[in-house]
Amino acid sequence: MRELTEVKMSTPVPEMEPQRQFYYMEVAKEYVRQLEEKKGRKLTFHVSTFGCQMNARDSEKLTGILETIGYVETDTEEADFVIYNTCTVRENANNKVYGRLGYLNGFKKKDHDMMIALCGCMMQEEKVVEKIRSSYRFVDLIFGTHNIYKFAELLVQALEADRMVVDVWKDTDKIVEDLPVERKYSFKSGVNIMFGCNNFCSYCIVPYVRGRERSREPKDIIREIEHLVEDGVVEVMLLGQNVNSYGKNLEHPVTFAQLLQEVEKIEGLERIRFMTSHPKDLSDDLIEVMKHSKKICKHLHLPLQSGSSRLLKIMNRHYTKEQYLELVEKIRAAVPDIALTTDIIVGFPGETDEDFMETMDVVEKVGYDSAFTFIYSKRTGTPAAEMEDQVPEEVVKARFDRLLARVQTIAAQKAGALTGKTMEVLVEHINEQDSHLVTGRLSNNSTVHLPGTEDMIGKLIPVYLKECKGFYYLGEAVE
Ligand code: 5AD
Ligand code: SF4
Repeated sequence: MRELTEVKMSTPVPEMEPQRQFYYMEVAKEYVRQLEEKKGRKLTFHVSTFGCQMNARDSEKLTGILETIGYVETDTEEADFVIYNTCTVRENANNKVYGRLGYLNGFKKKDHDMMIALCGCMMQEEKVVEKIRSSYRFVDLIFGTHNIYKFAELLVQALEADRMVVDVWKDTDKIVEDLPVERKYSFKSGVNIMFGCNNFCSYCIVPYVRGRERSREPKDIIREIEHLVEDGVVEVMLLGQNVNSYGKNLEHPVTFAQLLQEVEKIEGLERIRFMTSHPKDLSDDLIEVMKHSKKICKHLHLPLQSGSSRLLKIMNRHYTKEQYLELVEKIRAAVPDIALTTDIIVGFPGETDEDFMETMDVVEKVGYDSAFTFIYSKRTGTPAAEMEDQVPEEVVKARFDRLLARVQTIAAQKAGALTGKTMEVLVEHINEQDSHLVTGRLSNNSTVHLPGTEDMIGKLIPVYLKECKGFYYLGEAVE
């Protein structure tokens, strides 16, 4: 095994956070140094992220800590430290993790010093942790979504132990600020504004694995964004499971609309995005703020889930088909050129042909710029998992295919509406197929490819949108 000499620090372990984690980062650095000496090279790490933008942001936090203690990132899983940041929103996300773990074991057999850690939503499920304890005993560390800020401390425990370290909390009211973060992109960043969800949509496991809603203090959010801007960020994505209920549980309540107005004032910040909005909480104030904002992007992701008012009630969504359509109309009246995207679930228990046709009808009426369509996945512990009349697989599959085809046709018709216009593009990277091109995004989130060079990355430039090819534009930079 690792054969490390125990690191003893001259100062006691701090009680307070984040100081306590900085202390453990110092301890971890020393262990990393010992392992480097043993191997005669730098140690490498690989973080693999499953699921949503929240997880992507959490992975940046894990990366920040690993880099601070001396690990170097690598894009292969044949690394000294591999961590899977998991998702459990649908069953197939879980299966992927088990499959990949088997493959990792091959590497670990060759190098016993290798460390394997698992974290994220899937680890919040007791039966998952039990399964890993019994069938994947080579895993070194398991932690959950509530104690990710303790990663440095847990890593030290795992390095010192010769057994699996498991630390998963049921819930927390704690938010720890000011830990290191390593961004994937230099010019754009996710910013958590709240954690958890209180909605308990009847199909969804998220409230059980991410805990109750907790909002960050506006001053902490603003300070983080100001620092990001000083560091070259021009676009932020404000993240929360339900951003429209931001601020309700703060000592001095603040609305999401008010927060956006404060963020708008930050000089040097060019674009603001946010994710995800729940239709039931989307206020008139927010629409008003979007209408007058110069920075909020012309894109709204507004999950529908189902177009059937009957099913929406059983799903515990707190809106009807008509209310959803009215909301869309209000938003379009205020911000006419806004792109609308959505999430839709097909095959929720008891979904009839009539219910499904209601969903198709909303898709028709709204005309989404794009839609994520999901086959209902039964999540143990949610009310929907207990419901009778689960829909037969072949019926769900047929409905799903029909919905997807329609969604794609409508999206293709929508695309191209901006052809011939000149619009600002935030250039994100060199084009993967053709290195003479760069790729970026419009405010409405459409992709644009244009002739360009690396120095354009991270810049907002006016681009003439010459032609639309399916789901992207070809453009030319305008002087
Ligand atoms: N089955 C299928 N899709 C689901 N989602 C959430 N829970 C489930 C489930 N049990 C979808 C919803 C949500 C998106 C993130 O995932 O559409 O908006
Ligand atoms: Fe899940 Fe509903 Fe919360 Fe979204 S709002 S995370 S779908 S419970």
